[in-house]
Amino acid sequence: MSIRNLDDLLGEGVSGRRVLVRADLNVPLDKQSGEITDDGRIRAVLPTLSALVQAGAKVVVCSHLGRPKGAPDPQFSLRPVAGRLGELLGAPVHFAEDTVGDSARSTVEGLADGQVALLENLRFNKGETSKDDAERGAFADQLAAFGDAYVDDAFGAVHRKHASVYDVPARLPHVAGRLVLREVEVLSKLTGDPERPYVVVLGGSKVSDKLAVIEALLPTVDRLLIGGGMCFTFLKAQGHEVGTSLLEEEMVETCRNLLERSGGKILLPVDVVAADAFAPDATHDTVPADGIPSHRLGLDIGPETVAGFAAALSQAKTIFWNGPMGVFEMAAFANGTRGIAEAITKADAFSVVGGGDSAAAVRALGLDESSFGHISTGGGASLEYLEGKTLPGIAALES
Ligand code: 3PG
Ligand code: MG
Repeated sequence: MSIRNLDDLLGEGVSGRRVLVRADLNVPLDKQSGEITDDGRIRAVLPTLSALVQAGAKVVVCSHLGRPKGAPDPQFSLRPVAGRLGELLGAPVHFAEDTVGDSARSTVEGLADGQVALLENLRFNKGETSKDDAERGAFADQLAAFGDAYVDDAFGAVHRKHASVYDVPARLPHVAGRLVLREVEVLSKLTGDPERPYVVVLGGSKVSDKLAVIEALLPTVDRLLIGGGMCFTFLKAQGHEVGTSLLEEEMVETCRNLLERSGGKILLPVDVVAADAFAPDATHDTVPADGIPSHRLGLDIGPETVAGFAAALSQAKTIFWNGPMGVFEMAAFANGTRGIAEAITKADAFSVVGGGDSAAAVRALGLDESSFGHISTGGGASLEYLEGKTLPGIAALES
């Protein structure tokens, strides 16, 4: 890769220099308590931050959290993240109450060598996500003023053409952090020449989100296993009734077309767990995929499907998995996701878990993270990488 990385920057010496680090600290928070429910993304950026701290840099970290609308919104504050980051680093993190205002300025000015500051949510500022180059640029100018160098370690956000991802690196000497480097190294193995059989498992709720990646993967993969909410649009395309399951009616024709062109590579569920309501205590049964009762909705793949998918996975040498197989947050509908995750860990394969929900599922289900080859911190980003799209954050580091 023609990108300079953290070691290049460390080699130049960073002691006493201000290093602006874009991280993806967009962690899930409990709706009631506001507590962090999965700190995987915070842990993932520690290697970069610790290296900078040890080298005596003044480390200024910035991130988004959630999707606030360009103005401060307390429910999306990064303050709890600053606390958790400090615990994990073993040193206090100085939290700025704004992103580029007085609090940020004085926090950055007050940093001693080897200390870390976290700025408030980037998306509290319109300029961060603006489609207008000048508006984004003006915000990027303000951010860039806090650093003598820039490190992008926000893999989960490299697919966003946002000020902190795309415009700041044009204004400062820039390198990829340890996490971004590792993610790109791993994903490039999948787009390059993966060891075969190469099996991809896709789940999650929306076909429309996954369409581009299915198109891109079909020629490359040996098997594509489809579960999760999106499987019902495919089952409908096969001619089955899906009751009140999640259905994207306008995608049925597209799915039919994909199935026809797939040369038998696509495997769909043969049984599903169908419930009478979307609720943890709903009445539910396993039914054949072509026999979902009209008043029921599928909330997980069934055991026969898990067995079939597991058999395909056991042959694989390379595996990519994105998206849960069912509503794993509810115990009654978690067996599909758990079964697939376990099958992946048992396979003698290089396995990559793609981001967001599937990474959270691995941890929520108490599975051993180290039995996967790589757990990506990027959901959308890893999918767009596999689609072969140009990722603005990576392109900005290359130039
Ligand atoms: C994510 O969680 O997918 C990343 O943090 C990017 O967030 P976004 O989808 O709101 O841009
Ligand atoms: Mg996203």
